[in-house]
Amino acid sequence: MERNRWYKDMVFYQIWPRSFKDGNGDGMGDLWGVLEKLDYIQSLGCDGIWFSPIYPSPGADCGYDIADYMDIAPEFGGMEAFGQVLEGCHRRGMKLLMDLVVNHTSDEHEWFQKSRRRIEPYTDYYIWRPARPDGKLPNNWDSNFEGKAWTYDEVRGEYYLHLFAVKQPDLNMDNPLVREEVKKILRFWLDMGVDGFREDVITYISKKEGLPNDHLFPIYKGMPHYNHGPHIHEYLAEFKRDVFDHYDCFTLAEAPLVWPKQALKYIDETQGQIDMMIQFQSQCADCLFTDYLPMPFSLRRMKHAFSQWQYKLAGRAWNMLYLENHDHPRIISRYGSERYWKESGKTLAVSYLFQQGTPFLYQGQEIGMLNWQPENAEMYEDVQTRYNYAHSNLKKTEKVRLRKMWRSSRDSARTPVQWDDSANAGFTTGTPWFYVNENYREINVAAQESDPDSILHFYRKAIALRKTLKSVRYGTYRDHFPLHSKLYVYSRETEGEHLLVVCSFADKPVKMKIPRSFDLASAELLLGNYENNSSILRPYECRVYRVQQ
Ligand code: NOJ
Repeated sequence: MERNRWYKDMVFYQIWPRSFKDGNGDGMGDLWGVLEKLDYIQSLGCDGIWFSPIYPSPGADCGYDIADYMDIAPEFGGMEAFGQVLEGCHRRGMKLLMDLVVNHTSDEHEWFQKSRRRIEPYTDYYIWRPARPDGKLPNNWDSNFEGKAWTYDEVRGEYYLHLFAVKQPDLNMDNPLVREEVKKILRFWLDMGVDGFREDVITYISKKEGLPNDHLFPIYKGMPHYNHGPHIHEYLAEFKRDVFDHYDCFTLAEAPLVWPKQALKYIDETQGQIDMMIQFQSQCADCLFTDYLPMPFSLRRMKHAFSQWQYKLAGRAWNMLYLENHDHPRIISRYGSERYWKESGKTLAVSYLFQQGTPFLYQGQEIGMLNWQPENAEMYEDVQTRYNYAHSNLKKTEKVRLRKMWRSSRDSARTPVQWDDSANAGFTTGTPWFYVNENYREINVAAQESDPDSILHFYRKAIALRKTLKSVRYGTYRDHFPLHSKLYVYSRETEGEHLLVVCSFADKPVKMKIPRSFDLASAELLLGNYENNSSILRPYECRVYRVQQ
């Protein structure tokens, strides 16, 4: 029977819980805060929420180090508040996605505590290797966050592998018992009624046998031996067959370093094991693979990334569309212009919302939140930022080093959501767990609610519009001037409806360019960010036109 792929008609909102909204005054965002804001999320036109992890966790990686998969952290409100949020979502016709983080656990998870003591059946739940007689590490792999990927554990007298922080030991997915644990976790939440999972770095879960040294990659050494590893499709197919196929749910896989052709092995609608993929290519228009290797923004690179995924997935798989999440600095500060904050915020919205796929918004994106710029590096919280700061650009001045962090750090996008211009941006009545961006008096939800021309209202309009256009769901996509360095002009075409999206990424006026086949005279302007249109596009101007045939 053909599955009802309801996620194709939806728009999701990502909540990074610590910084969303504090409901109990302890300074930390929580589920009571989410309950207060469900109507707001729905008012954006969002039909679902993806929660970054809300499980009990020591917080070494802000919740991506899980100590108990079948509970909700008390500081977020525990199971009771979660039940209310789930019910609140479903009552509004909204879906709820959990974050499944099973490449690794916290080192404080009971499994790791037992594994390091060789208590059965946990002995082989993680990837342990003995120390080598020559004193070298088991192999030359790097962790993604904190130096080498191996840490010696005194209790067990062996090294364990951690592809992320020291406190995030990797699970041994080759052990069938570990895969059974994953299935138990999935069923637990699905039986409770959650609607699907975002699967954290899921393409890392199968490591090459023998864990060989890597002689290929200059950075992230080891990646070719664990990303898209030998059993990845087998394990994902097993989760699908044993669990997902028995529920009306969907899966979204995070995949660092993946191209469309490879992605199709996972998400092809007839043969794939999962439904959608978070790719990083479109995050690399101003950097080389990681935000820590910045380059000047290139519109061509951005268009190329978007278009590749639009063309290659068409008719075979479904795109996940996003500009921001908790792992990257804010998009206006990167691809747009802080000077043309409002204009570029709207243009960025239009640049992705009319593509084919399911859009995701990250909290604060809808009001155009900008990068946080701390005064000194001690203010950073994020484990990856701290490590990078301590180990890179050591010969540069403090000022330069700090600026580089503003541009690269995940913390740039992790400050509390700016709800209004009261103390702490209305995020908490207590002392916020993290710094509030000082621009909250100008950029906040309340101010934008009362301004019909705000970025917030523009997102509402754009989302509402996308839902009325059949070409957005079904139409073919075409990028008309891929080499143009200032304009992004794409069309979506289906029988009877031809949509043209024009976005300027220039801070100066640019002559409008449209494809010959498109008749502007009979076109209707559905959306734009300036009044009085002419053939000259003003800085960061965007327009959405429709021709009905
Ligand atoms: C990807 C998550 O999005 C990120 O926040 C996390 O630090 C790593 N995976 C490790 O879980």
